[in-house]
Amino acid sequence: MQKHATIFKKVVLVTGCTSGLGKAICESLIRSSRYRVVVTARGRSFMRLAEIFPENDDTLHLPLDVTSESEISNAVNEICRRWGRIDTLINNAGVCFRSVVEHMDANAEDLQMRTNFFGPVNLMKSVLPIMREQRSGHIINISSVSGMVSMPTMASYSASKHALEGVSEALWYECRPYGIQVSIVQPGFINSPSFRNVILSRKARLSYELRGPHSEYYDSMTPFIENLMGYSMSRPEVVAAKILKLLEMKNPPLRIKVTLDAILFGLLRRLIPGFWFHKLMFYFLPRSGQWGNKKWAQEEGPLSPRRKI
Ligand SMILES: NC(=O)c1ccc[n+]([C@@H]2O[C@H](COP(=O)([O-])OP(=O)(O)OC[C@H]3O[C@@H](n4cnc5c(N)ncnc54)[C@H](OP(=O)(O)O)[C@@H]3O)[C@@H](O)[C@H]2O)c1
Repeated sequence: MQKHATIFKKVVLVTGCTSGLGKAICESLIRSSRYRVVVTARGRSFMRLAEIFPENDDTLHLPLDVTSESEISNAVNEICRRWGRIDTLINNAGVCFRSVVEHMDANAEDLQMRTNFFGPVNLMKSVLPIMREQRSGHIINISSVSGMVSMPTMASYSASKHALEGVSEALWYECRPYGIQVSIVQPGFINSPSFRNVILSRKARLSYELRGPHSEYYDSMTPFIENLMGYSMSRPEVVAAKILKLLEMKNPPLRIKVTLDAILFGLLRRLIPGFWFHKLMFYFLPRSGQWGNKKWAQEEGPLSPRRKI
C-alpha cells in the first residue's frame, strides 16, 4: 500500500475572527489550504464561528476572550495538544472607544487597554516559549494609523495602538536570535461596517446626547471617520490578502502599511516637521475652527463644567 507523506502546514492562531478583518484573514487562510487555522472568538460570539467557518481537520474553533488569561492559556494548550506547534499568532481582536480625553473613565480605559494591549501581550508571552523551542515563528500585531498618528476623540484607542507598537518593536530585537519574526500591520481606514462597533464612553455618550461640552467634537469627528471608512477603497479582503503575503515572506518587515491612506499618513509624518504636521491636521479636521466656541463656563447646562456627571 502506498504511503502519503503528511504535508507540513503552518499553524496560525487568529484572534477576533467573527467580523471585519479577522474574519477576512481566516477566510483567506482557509481558502489557501496551506495552513492549519485556529479561529477564535470570545464567549458571546463563539457560536457564530460554526456558521462562518466549518470545522475540519485543518480548522479548529476555540473560545478566546483576549482579556482572559485562563482562556489564553487553555487555547494555547489545546493547540499544542492537537498540533504540537504554533507558527503564527495574529493579534487582531480590538475595540475602539470614541471619547475626548476628559470623557474617558476608568472602566473604558481599562477595557480598551486590556483588549488592545494587555491581551495581545499575554498572548505573545504564551506563544513565545513554543516558538523559541521551534526556533521559528511569526507574531503579527494588527495596529492602525492610530499607532502613528493620534486624532481627537480617539485618544484611548491611539494610546493602546502606540503601546502595542512599542512592545512589538522591543520584541523584534529580543526575538531575532531565535528566528522569530515580529510584524506590525498598520491599516488605515478599512471599508467595513466596523465603525458601528465604536463604543462611546459613558461621559462621551451623555455629552453627545445632552449637547454638553465637547459635543461639537463628536459632531465633527463621528461622521468624518464614518465617511473615511465608507469611501475607503480598502476592503477587509484586500487587507487580508496583504497579510497573507506577509505570512509567506522569508524576511517580513517590522512595520507594514497596508492601505493607501496609511502609506500617505506615513509619508506626511516623515516629511513634514511635527510642528507643521499637527497644525495642518488641525486645519483639515472638519469644523475644527468652531471647536471650543461655546461658552460652557457661563451656562448651567446639564454638562457644564460646574456640574459633575
Ligand atoms: N476597521 C478599520 O478601519 C481599522 C483600521 C485600522 C486598524 N484596525 C484594527 O483591525 C483590527 C480588527 O478590526 P475590525 O475593523 O475588523 O473590527 P471589528 O469588525 O469590530 O472586529 C473586531 C473583532 O474583535 C473581537 N473582539 C473584541 N473584543 C474581544 C475580546 N475581548 N476577545 C476576543 N475578541 C474580541 C470582536 O468580537 P465580537 O464579535 O465578539 O465583538 C470582533 O470579532 C482591530 O485591532 C482594529 O483596531 C481596524
